[in-house]
Amino acid sequence: MKIIVTGGAGFIGSHLVESLLKDGHELLIFDNFLTGKKENLLFDGNFRLVEDNFGSKDSLSLIEDFDPEVCFHLAAQSSVVVSVQDPRLDFEHNILQPVQLLNTLINSNCKKFVFTSSGGTIFGEPKNIPTTESDYSNEPASPYGVAKKKLNEIIKIMTLNTNLSYSILNLSNVYGPRQDPNGEAGVVSIFSNKYLNGERPVIYGNGEQTRDYIFVQDVISALIKSSKIDDDLFLNIGTGIETSVNELAESLKTQFSSNLNPVYQDAREGELQRSVLDNTKARKLLNWEPQYDLNDGMLEVRNWLKP
Ligand SMILES: NC(=O)c1ccc[n+]([C@@H]2O[C@H](COP(=O)([O-])OP(=O)(O)OC[C@H]3O[C@@H](n4cnc5c(N)ncnc54)[C@H](O)[C@@H]3O)[C@@H](O)[C@H]2O)c1
Repeated sequence: MKIIVTGGAGFIGSHLVESLLKDGHELLIFDNFLTGKKENLLFDGNFRLVEDNFGSKDSLSLIEDFDPEVCFHLAAQSSVVVSVQDPRLDFEHNILQPVQLLNTLINSNCKKFVFTSSGGTIFGEPKNIPTTESDYSNEPASPYGVAKKKLNEIIKIMTLNTNLSYSILNLSNVYGPRQDPNGEAGVVSIFSNKYLNGERPVIYGNGEQTRDYIFVQDVISALIKSSKIDDDLFLNIGTGIETSVNELAESLKTQFSSNLNPVYQDAREGELQRSVLDNTKARKLLNWEPQYDLNDGMLEVRNWLKP
């Protein structure tokens, strides 16, 4: 099958590309290397990588010519911190270009648009824990969250009465190999790297803030399963398990047999206190469930980081 992957050189995108190639698909991949890396795509297969914005005139005309059946849209300005510093940049990559892409796909033979939204930001500080898809009691606290939530609405309205159906997946905190250990998000990679180098990880705030950590392969299986369903889908993809940053640091400390305790610094502005997603709907509609527990996943990250 002919498939488009935007953001294919990124952390999640590269795992998706790898799986789709194993299944024998033909891929047209776009990445502008805002955060993506060429070394994430060092494998063979039937793909072409276009080093450009997916929303450029040239890219859109390549998409028209390619005539895909499915588009996995993962490209994004993916940093909450950058979105606060430069909302215009965020809205350019996370709203304006996606609208161009949608417009092109709606006027093509493409049947499915799969989008990675953000369950950790679109619900703001959620009132209900675990948070369901319909919990809109609060607003996002960052331009990144605003753009993700807006694009969800834009996808729904633009695809109405067209041949393009959508799967919008609200991902929780994804972790796994290839996640940048020197970035500002991706705490499993960052802490693991610190312990590996005999350094103390930094926790912002008191460490009691919670997150829902899902392993990247579990996200890939949800993305692929959702692409095969004709109906429109709006689903949370997380584990439903709440883990505090202190608990995570403690588990990693044990795994790395370290005696180093974290360093505590001032809480970062706008950080949520609790975040965990109710995945009941995805379990049912996708016949999917997470296969990796946090210890299995942390081990995969460790093996990847280890020289
Ligand atoms: N990692 C998480 O925990 C998480 C959680 C929720 C949602 N998401 C979403 O999943 C997707 C993938 O995230 P990731 O963690 O792999 O991030 P990432 O930064 O590794 O991947 C994003 C990729 O998109 C590329 N890109 C950005 N703008 C582009 C543009 N205009 N044209 C072409 N390429 C462009 C980047 O270079 C990068 O390779 C993103 O949409 C992100 O918002 C991630």
